[in-house]
Amino acid sequence: MEVHVKKFHEMTPEELYGILKLRVDVFVVEQKCTAPELDDRDQEAIHVWITDEDGVQAYLRLLDKGVEHEKYHAIGRVLTSEKKRSAGYGRAIMEEGIRVLTETYGEVPIYLEAQTYAEGFYGKFGFKKISDEFILDGIPHYKMLRSAGAEADKNGGADENGFSCETSAKVRFRVVEGLSQIRVEDVARLLKATYWAGQRPAEKIEKSMRHSDCYGIYVEGEPRLAGFARVITDHATTFYLADVIVDESRRGDGLGKALVSYILGSPKYVGLRGILVTKDAHGLYEKYGFERQDGRFMSRSSN
Ligand SMILES: CC(C)(COP(=O)(O)OP(=O)(O)OC[C@H]1O[C@@H](n2cnc3c(N)ncnc32)[C@H](O)[C@@H]1OP(=O)(O)O)[C@@H](O)C(=O)NCCC(=O)NCCS
Repeated sequence: MEVHVKKFHEMTPEELYGILKLRVDVFVVEQKCTAPELDDRDQEAIHVWITDEDGVQAYLRLLDKGVEHEKYHAIGRVLTSEKKRSAGYGRAIMEEGIRVLTETYGEVPIYLEAQTYAEGFYGKFGFKKISDEFILDGIPHYKMLRSAGAEADKNGGADENGFSCETSAKVRFRVVEGLSQIRVEDVARLLKATYWAGQRPAEKIEKSMRHSDCYGIYVEGEPRLAGFARVITDHATTFYLADVIVDESRRGDGLGKALVSYILGSPKYVGLRGILVTKDAHGLYEKYGFERQDGRFMSRSSN
């Protein structure tokens, strides 16, 4: 298995022919779709493909911001040759595509339009559905988005108890949503140590939680709440990320990044302007597209 990464003008005629042949075999012939496969976006794309002894077996292309989506970089034309499916080529090409895109453009959100049957496949790489089903070229699709720096989503999975995964520091964690799995006294314990809410009474904390979207993070196997954050939103224009806190004994394990990455990857906040206030954590939020405004105030434009 050999991975190749090239811009259009760097490709040999043989490489280009091999890729276009496979794309036509899959997207036109196999999927019986007559929409133009050659759409004039290849000239500006970065092409990533995998070959083995039988030729090209997997492919995708990376598109700059403003091509497929006005505000996001995108991945498109993802495929594995029909005879090599379910053998790990799809995983290999996606991991390589995300790696190259991040290396080229930085830790940015990544957009793609997924055929609905492949939603679970893209979910494995941190992509989340952000639209209802729509028909593109006669085929049902979802719009999907992977939040910036969502590497914590790799190897993750969700069930009724929350989303569990591993941070880059190899700490296995679980993010939970809602009040049923987050105790007010645990949040009060965490907030007591903060400069902004150290004096906040428990009743006020409880009331604020009832009127917010609440998120907690646990280290796998530990009953103690390791981190907390909440979001206030009108669901139409703006969301406010507040009270982000990780237990002092658990700092440096990547839990803050995992929690913020999980929250900002939620489809609930896509398309909304984000705001927050921080004294010392600007660097964390800048990773997710927030920009410093006046003093402690940071904001992120609507997606
Ligand atoms: C989608 C596609 C690229 C997957 O490629 P693949 O080589 O079969 O994928 P892999 O064998 O590497 O599978 C990777 C993982 O995704 C899972 N997976 C594969 N297809 C899936 C699907 N349709 N739904 C959910 N999970 C899927 C596998 O079980 C595997 O899981 P694991 O690594 O946790 O064990 C392939 O089915 C394909 O080329 N389809 C035709 C072209 C197409 O429709 N592309 C999508 C355009 S949006």
